[in-house]
Amino acid sequence: MSLRKPAVVVNFKTYPEASGKGALEIARVCEQVASETGASIVIAPPMMDLALVASSVKIPVMAQHLDSVPSGATTGHVTVENAKASGAVGTLINHSERRLKIAEIHELIDRSRSAGLASIVCTNNIAVSRACAAMEPDFVAIEPPELIGGDVSVTTANPKIVSDTVQSIRAISMSVGVLCGAGVKNGRDVAKALELGTNGVLLASGVVKAKDKRAVLLDLVSGLRT
Ligand code: G3P
Repeated sequence: MSLRKPAVVVNFKTYPEASGKGALEIARVCEQVASETGASIVIAPPMMDLALVASSVKIPVMAQHLDSVPSGATTGHVTVENAKASGAVGTLINHSERRLKIAEIHELIDRSRSAGLASIVCTNNIAVSRACAAMEPDFVAIEPPELIGGDVSVTTANPKIVSDTVQSIRAISMSVGVLCGAGVKNGRDVAKALELGTNGVLLASGVVKAKDKRAVLLDLVSGLRT
């Protein structure tokens, strides 16, 4: 499964307002905006809502995290095969709030690829981005942890880390997509992310915490076209 670029990837995290019925509601707003605008919007609902959301909307739905354990006698874990069976088309890996060891990241990228799932590996700096790009995931998403959940977008607070990440990854692979995230809130941030050489953004609170989610999404995707 390949995700259409440039993309706006919305991670619902475990925010209560984006769980259960809320997850479905936000997913439907994302689907509607994607269909009205033609924009590539990808969503990562809470793990418990993965199957429900994936069976209810036509936009790509991803897992937020998967465990690098075998399928079968591994109670309480979520495997690549579980995600695939639930209708997910891919997974985030190594999110700042769910860090993994390098061997686990590698295994998850490989197993996802074999299962036909796309992978977005989150990274915190250029060295980690380079290491992860060498494993050829579909995307690397650079997210400085100190800016996550804040009001200032990484594209404003630290545009250099974004452009340097793009450059470092391009020196390793032309096929790995690059996203940036942390504090992304509006279409200007998205446009700036593309200007810095990325293939889109990964964000959470800007959508999940917004009163008018449709208006925010329309503004965000307007940045994909400028
Ligand atoms: O996964 C997206 C994320 O960590 C950024 O969160 O709330 O700063 O958009 P936020």
